[in-house]
Amino acid sequence: MIKLSKIYLNYGNNADILKNLDLKLTSGSFHFLTGPSGSGKSSLLKLLFLGHVPTSGKLSIFGKDISEISKPDLPILRRKIGVVFQDFRLLDHLTVIENVALPLQIAGARNRDIKDHVNELITWVGLNDKIDAFPNTLSDGEKQRIAIARAVIGRPSLLLADEPTGSIDSNQGDKIMHLFEELNKIGTTVIIATHDNSLVSQFDYPKLNLVNGKINRNE
Ligand SMILES: Nc1ncnc2c1ncn2[C@@H]1O[C@H](COP(=O)(O)OP(=O)(O)OP(=O)(O)O)[C@@H](O)[C@H]1O
Ligand SMILES: [Mg+2]
Repeated sequence: MIKLSKIYLNYGNNADILKNLDLKLTSGSFHFLTGPSGSGKSSLLKLLFLGHVPTSGKLSIFGKDISEISKPDLPILRRKIGVVFQDFRLLDHLTVIENVALPLQIAGARNRDIKDHVNELITWVGLNDKIDAFPNTLSDGEKQRIAIARAVIGRPSLLLADEPTGSIDSNQGDKIMHLFEELNKIGTTVIIATHDNSLVSQFDYPKLNLVNGKINRNE
């Protein structure tokens, strides 16, 4: 469902961040994406959520070559992808509940159906007392949990989580990993970028190690 071949990425300053990268992931798989700081983990995720086009090479997602996707189809494809950004990217002018509800609203769900579902998930991540708060009043760990709730609320086909446990304690981290595993059980392909080796070593999932612009697989 995800296929990258001969992918190069540079940001226009001659330094290739990704160099001749090949990668194939099947639907429903669960992977950690590891590699040193600056190796390009976030950049690779950015390609996968179609936030940036590769400098060269071929990328297909959900069986579609991205160079053949028309502009109007792009948001439709993106709706199938949940993203937890390393820097959260919550919308500051929306409350916690509005941020989490957004993907369902965009997908056209009815408000009545949204409310209970969103409330339940916010409670599950432990932030029911903050539903009407604005993001700039939250701690980083709280923002991260809201960003995670927003990424999973629509049960995406693909979940890309960039350092999703970077700002939360280990108890909360366990709970979030459980949430990702439950989502994976119902079919979501999961990729978690992290340089937290203690997190990676707790699980048996295969690792994609990004070094020198290429992926070394450790299944
Ligand atoms: N928008 C950009 N413009 C120019 N260079 C960029 C841009 N985004 C990232 N880079 C560079 O690309 C390289 C890879 O960055 P990236 O954020 O993908 O690494 P990372 O593996 O996610 O690092 P970390 O573990 O610190 O999050 C870095 O050298 C970074 O400076
Ligand atoms: Mg990063």
